[in-house]
Amino acid sequence: MHVVLLDSTAVRFDDLCTALQALEFPSDGERDHPELRAVLAARSSIQDAVLDDDFLASCLHLELQLLERDELRPGLVPFFTMPGLGIRFAFGYWPPGGSPGPHEHTAWTITAVCRNELEVLTYDREESYSRRELVLKNRFPASAGKVGYIYEPCIHAPINNSSRWSLSFHMTSPRDGEDPGDVCGDPLPGLLERARPDRTNSDHVYRKVIERRRQVRRIRAIGNMLPSLNSTKASSLSDKCTALGGFMTDRPESGKPTRHGFALERVHKDLELSYRLDAGMAVLYSETPTGSLKELALDSLGREAIAFVSKERSFTIEDMPGDLSTEERLHIADALEETGLYVKIGDDYACTSD
Ligand SMILES: [Fe+2]
Repeated sequence: MHVVLLDSTAVRFDDLCTALQALEFPSDGERDHPELRAVLAARSSIQDAVLDDDFLASCLHLELQLLERDELRPGLVPFFTMPGLGIRFAFGYWPPGGSPGPHEHTAWTITAVCRNELEVLTYDREESYSRRELVLKNRFPASAGKVGYIYEPCIHAPINNSSRWSLSFHMTSPRDGEDPGDVCGDPLPGLLERARPDRTNSDHVYRKVIERRRQVRRIRAIGNMLPSLNSTKASSLSDKCTALGGFMTDRPESGKPTRHGFALERVHKDLELSYRLDAGMAVLYSETPTGSLKELALDSLGREAIAFVSKERSFTIEDMPGDLSTEERLHIADALEETGLYVKIGDDYACTSD
């Protein structure tokens, strides 16, 4: 994979890759694991790198390129894989209260908290398998800048206990997820399966909704952290986020957005939506492989808009009926995008301070 990086940040990112190449990591495809000292040296390099916002800007540039493509899988999806070594770089996104639950790593990994915080619960793996239940071992707070590592197979559960999104950086072995072969029998109760199956029905159009929702939430999580990114590239990254599905409202750096020139389009032409009144709220439902699913609820002010949306496959925000201000229309459009049901189309969307 050839990577073209942002000009002023290329050295930082390339420096890290050069430093990792110089360490004694096995080549991709080899059956060996690296020595502990190689992992510790890599951790030290990551420690320096994640404190450098230009390095993060380089990584986020690659991440946005990944997010621009479809087929986004759940979990950690690498935005970069080191040629020859197979070492994967990925970002982790943590909504308030978010956690993947207890899961197992079966090869080395390095994890850094880039923004906000996480708490990491670790479990006694030997005892857990012996007793056939998860046995808590430790609980670590991890604030921004904290870098941890795993060398031996390990069970842990990071969680974001704060009220804000957190972002983490992960470097993982190409062998993580392989069965280490040291335990047998049924999966441990409460532990996520190593190869987590994608339970989305691939033949159903709702799969596009799930993929788009995952994509837009990650884009918006990046957009939210950009104001705190001390890099000359933050503004171009912000523009990219906006183009890919970032918030149209609450953009303090640009003033109020105009409402000209963009429309929303249903993420798949065959996606079926409906609307009902429920306890005074106008509720938008989608048809999923397992039946109707509540997606968005608005108060009576948005009733006409929701009824309209349930029928229309594409529209501009001015088309939405009802006594709504521009700001309210934009909030509805933002909410519709965040559900994954609709995508923004039209390129001449612009911001103004008027
Ligand atoms: Fe993990």
